[in-house]
Amino acid sequence: MNIQLMNVQRQHEKYASEYEEAALRVLRSGNYIGGEEVIAFEEEFALYEGAKYGISCGNGTDAIILALRALGIGPGDEVITTAWTFFATAESIAAVGATPVFVDVDAFTYCMNVNLVEHAITDKTRAVLPVHMYGQSCDMDALRKICKKYSLYLIADCAQSAGTKYKGKRSNTLGDVSCFSFFPTKNLGGSGDGGMVLTDDENVARACRSLKVHGSGKDGLWTLKKEYERSGKSLPASMPMGESKYYNYLIGYNSRLDAIQAAILRVKLNHMDEFIDRRRMNASLYNEGLKNLEFITPIEAEYSEHSYYIYALKHPQASLIIDKLKESGVSSGTYYPIPLHLQGAFSYLGYKEGDLPITEELSKTTFVLPVFPELFEQERDYIINALRQIKLKEI
Ligand SMILES: Cc1ncc(COP(=O)(O)O)c(C=O)c1O
Repeated sequence: MNIQLMNVQRQHEKYASEYEEAALRVLRSGNYIGGEEVIAFEEEFALYEGAKYGISCGNGTDAIILALRALGIGPGDEVITTAWTFFATAESIAAVGATPVFVDVDAFTYCMNVNLVEHAITDKTRAVLPVHMYGQSCDMDALRKICKKYSLYLIADCAQSAGTKYKGKRSNTLGDVSCFSFFPTKNLGGSGDGGMVLTDDENVARACRSLKVHGSGKDGLWTLKKEYERSGKSLPASMPMGESKYYNYLIGYNSRLDAIQAAILRVKLNHMDEFIDRRRMNASLYNEGLKNLEFITPIEAEYSEHSYYIYALKHPQASLIIDKLKESGVSSGTYYPIPLHLQGAFSYLGYKEGDLPITEELSKTTFVLPVFPELFEQERDYIINALRQIKLKEI
């Protein structure tokens, strides 16, 4: 057996003719940047998740950067987030010049511990940036309450949670801005990189639309005008003003979703409910198959309908189990082995081992199993059996 942790090729094979037809449509159209496919995908994904505006971009990291910039967050500002996530979450905060402030996660949901957030607020805090970790929704009502009380923005990192629900409804748009990744392995994964910002706020949407194309065009002009208005000034009369892409109003980025990706993602979005159902089914069968063993299976918070981007188990001997699974041909791993507060890139922040005990414990005790929608029943059974064997014989 050779079972990959995330086999994206199999998803392609299942609906190959549909994806390839979409890609060919773009190739033959000659419209490779922007255009109908991108606009349609932005509208369709925003509708799916329940937001007014969708602004596509090059990847999920850029989506967070665009969101922060659109909210005016930068040097001197602090953003409260977690260290139990992929590097990009806090990297984006640092990339706009702000300071990530890490709080620990909840020991059961692996999401931001809402009880720790208020203690981390200072007069520099501008936003809270929780991560719907592994596809489990954070407690958004509690976070919204805190953000409202302290006038903070709530920015959700939804890179792992497309399709997740909270209290029966899609949960990804319960903050001010939500940031998605369409990296191929994600719940909605393209055939390359991709990302999206969702928001109901027109100003944020227009700022993101401009920032992603070098701060240009009419959305750039609108955003710059607003910035001047906020500081009580009007735009300099001598400033060249036009709506074409050669008029630049903000220092932005080049971060676009390719039309070919948009076309493929549109087709995949049509199958999204099936993908999530299959992830949830795999998770539930793992839970059943691993019952009464020593592993701690994922705990679904009562308010969350987990989308299982990742299915993680907990055991004190996680690294040994990962090795044993590998010997049986099952790829596994720890997501993520080094918590962000201990990463060299953040050493300037001065955190040390012991500062975030739950996060640190998770980095040593969790290991993940393949849960992707196209996992075969025999593979799932084989993995369950392999785990049972390890437990009985080796540990
Ligand atoms: C939690 C989280 N945030 C941000 C990102 C960044 O997304 P991308 O790889 O599309 O830049 C990822 C993806 O790997 C992620 O898992």
